[in-house]
Formats: sequence, structure tokens, C-alpha cells
Amino acid sequence: MLGLKLPTDPRWVNIVEKNIEEILTDHAFCEQKATSTAISLIVSFPEYTELVQEMVALVKEEISHFKMVHDKILERGWVLGRDRRDDYVIELLKFFPKGGSRTTQLVHRLLYAALIEARSCERFRLLSEELKDKELATFYRNLMVSEANHYTMFLGFARQYGEKKEVDTKWQQLLEYESQIIVKLGKNETIHG
Ligand SMILES: [Fe+2]
Ligand SMILES: [Fe+2]
Repeated sequence: MLGLKLPTDPRWVNIVEKNIEEILTDHAFCEQKATSTAISLIVSFPEYTELVQEMVALVKEEISHFKMVHDKILERGWVLGRDRRDDYVIELLKFFPKGGSRTTQLVHRLLYAALIEARSCERFRLLSEELKDKELATFYRNLMVSEANHYTMFLGFARQYGEKKEVDTKWQQLLEYESQIIVKLGKNETIHG
């Protein structure tokens, strides 16, 4: 599914289930970061018109996801806590060397975004299938569908703006690297933990 090389251990859901407040807090900030990423791509690459148009739409969608998660937190009588450190993303962003041409930098950012969307989508699918809390399971099923579209959109832009064969090779290498990060995770009640 989604080209990922290693599926998440389903026992991760048992850890999540013990602390719904924690997963919702972390999830809310994942949506905020997705919004910020889209804005940052607009700022860094304004001349890529098609990308800018899609990022505007994405900003609206991701901030609406943020609101959906925030509403869930309030419904359950909690208040949104502080952002959590995302070690998965910190490790992932070490893969491509810094610098390179403008196109190269754009391709790298698009591939990172595609992969984070793909892994998030896989985690949402797992939550939608395994959570005993059925209301929350349905919530994650609906979100899973939109994140899958984001993954294909980012990958599509990388192939469109970069040299397709080179992009595909980099994508495979990044997937391989990501599976080595994921093998050590699945132990925390965070979206990428
Ligand atoms: Fe989202
Ligand atoms: Fe997304």
C-alpha cells in the first residue's frame, strides 16, 4: 500500500488507544505542519504556478483537518496542548543532501511531503481498522481518503518538475531509508511515533 516498504506494526494501535488525548494532540499539530508546509512551498517556489494553485487548496484543506481534530479534542473535554517533537520527520529530513539546484531542492521537498502524507495515511488506515472507539475509527477513515490524494499529488509534482527517471530512483531510495526509521518506531502514541 502507498509504496511503503514496511507496514506499521498493528500493536502500535494498542499503545495509542491507552492515550487518546495524546494522539489527538500530536495529530492536530501534524495538520498544522501540513498547512505550514504548503504555505512554505508557495513562499519558496512562487513561479511554479500549478503548484501554487494546488498549495492554496491544500492550505484550506489541511487547516480544516486541524479544526476537525481540534473540535474532537474540545468535544472530549480537553484543551489543545503543546506541539510534540516528531523524531520520525527529524530523521527523515536528513536523507537528501542540502543544497543543489533550485529544481533539485523542490523535488526533495516534494518527495519528503509525499512520504509523510503516505505514512500518515497508512497510520490513519490502521486507526480506522483497529480502534475500538468506533466514532474515532470513522473519523480516521474519512481523513485517510484525503491524505492518500495528497501523497499522489506531491509525488506527481515531483515527477512533473524533476527528471522523471531520476525522481523515481530518489523516491525508491527514500522509501528504503524510511523503512529503516520505521522499524525502530511504533512505540509511542503519536501519529509517526
Ligand atoms: Fe490532513
Ligand atoms: Fe495531508
